Amino acid sequence: SILIVDFGSQVTQLIARRVREAGVYSEIAPYNAAEAAFERMKPKGIILSGSPASVPEDGSPRAPQCLFDSGLPILGICYGQQVMSHQLGGEVRPGHETGEGGEFGRAFLTVTEECILFDGLWQVGERHQVWMSHGDKVTRFAPGFRIVATSDGAPFALIADDERRYYGTQFHPEVAHTPDGAKLIANFVHKVCGLSGDWTMAEFRATKIAEIREQVGTGRVICGLSGGVDSSVAAILIHEAIGDQLTCVFVDHGLLRLNEREQVESLFRDHYNIPLVVVDAEERFMAGLAGVTDPEKKRKFIGAEFINVFEEEAKKIGGADFLAQGTLYPDVIESVSFTGGPSVTIKSHHNVGGLPERMNMKLVEPLRELFKDEVRALGRELGLNDQFVGRHPFPGPGLAIRIPGEVTKERCDILRKADAVYLEEIRNAGLYDAIWQAFAVLLPVRTVGVMGDGRTYDSVCALRAVTSVDGMTADIYPFDAAFLSRVATRIINEVKGINRVVYDYTSKPPGTIEWE
Ligand code: XMP
Repeated sequence: SILIVDFGSQVTQLIARRVREAGVYSEIAPYNAAEAAFERMKPKGIILSGSPASVPEDGSPRAPQCLFDSGLPILGICYGQQVMSHQLGGEVRPGHETGEGGEFGRAFLTVTEECILFDGLWQVGERHQVWMSHGDKVTRFAPGFRIVATSDGAPFALIADDERRYYGTQFHPEVAHTPDGAKLIANFVHKVCGLSGDWTMAEFRATKIAEIREQVGTGRVICGLSGGVDSSVAAILIHEAIGDQLTCVFVDHGLLRLNEREQVESLFRDHYNIPLVVVDAEERFMAGLAGVTDPEKKRKFIGAEFINVFEEEAKKIGGADFLAQGTLYPDVIESVSFTGGPSVTIKSHHNVGGLPERMNMKLVEPLRELFKDEVRALGRELGLNDQFVGRHPFPGPGLAIRIPGEVTKERCDILRKADAVYLEEIRNAGLYDAIWQAFAVLLPVRTVGVMGDGRTYDSVCALRAVTSVDGMTADIYPFDAAFLSRVATRIINEVKGINRVVYDYTSKPPGTIEWE
């Protein structure tokens, strides 16, 4: 395995991901817990991460000396390179002293000497794109090192000490903007550390199951299901680990899509045999939403009421020591807290924020290290079908934020039907997987129409479909006109209450994906 020592870089998890992609198991440990992790894991290699800190500054973090004493290969990335150079007798100077202000963004380096990291990849004399993000830099490398690649802003872009098997990069090989970075990291773990690269998602599953058993012991776990991929995969994995010590709770707030509740019931109860409590809370939510039109008030009410319902159920079930969540890496905002020691700060997950503290429960979050596509791969590994793991994201507040104006059961029913027609047509056209998210919106606007010989005066339905990689930015999906008119005709004919359909042509930014 590989031990990744985290100095607080925002992209440390990408290092872990690249190591996983190279088929090797890794664990991340904060720098001040790295010695314990090292002794427990007995790794075959070490990677030192980047950091927002500055090596020349008093109190900035250092790598534990035991790592250098171990005789194992070390790859230092950015701050990792600087701290390694500093601790081994080189010199690092802050950007303001060298007068060069650092480098941020795309840079090109030139390969000056051969190096094992370049095997099958780079030749001497070639230029390659890399991603830099540093203020400080190494100004004198430690004894034993040589330069193998340079860039204009970083003369020591890549340094190597082949005897001790120490390597340092000023750039970030773990990010996508360093196109060959994944291969450099793979060369480090395979060729330098001698690891074979046969680790798979199946082993991730086995490792996590062992970890969950150890963490939970004979305790009881409650997991809130949303119907989405993340909480489902977390629940199935935890059930595999501890069986019926797990109870899942699914709150039907009446803001779900057509047949969603039935699908969850059949998947969990019938297929996986997982204890499942379904709470029918539609009336409560509709009553609380009556007269509410402000989007933020809707969200706040739904979030708070969800916690109330969940807490009541948890009390009924009784004796739960743990709350399971499908938190993914992008939900984890800060990996190392410099002020609070090795503790880890997380963003509270949308649906149950505050609940664990209130009920004195501990968290079980087996997907914390994974990215969305890895969760999907794990879902497949656990036997979920492609259609399920490929589901579009669905927001916690559900249809409420797709019904601008007042939310009523009647309007939810209308929207559910229109949305189902739209999604059915998208699946039939084979477009579902090319789209990040597609849904219908029911507008609080009525327009005049004519159907048969009669006048109609009904609501407008807007269709939305976007492509995106992470939901942060999005483009509209360019359906052809024939597709859109087919959907519009079906919705107007089949859904009573809608007599006009429009397509939303707004990208994000300036729009958001949801309408509220
Ligand atoms: P926006 O509308 O902000 O949405 O562009 C970006 C992504 O986040 C989802 N979303 C939510 N998910 N609770 C959630 O769990 C929410 O309150 C929420 N609001 C937006 C949205 O569906 C899209 O995928």
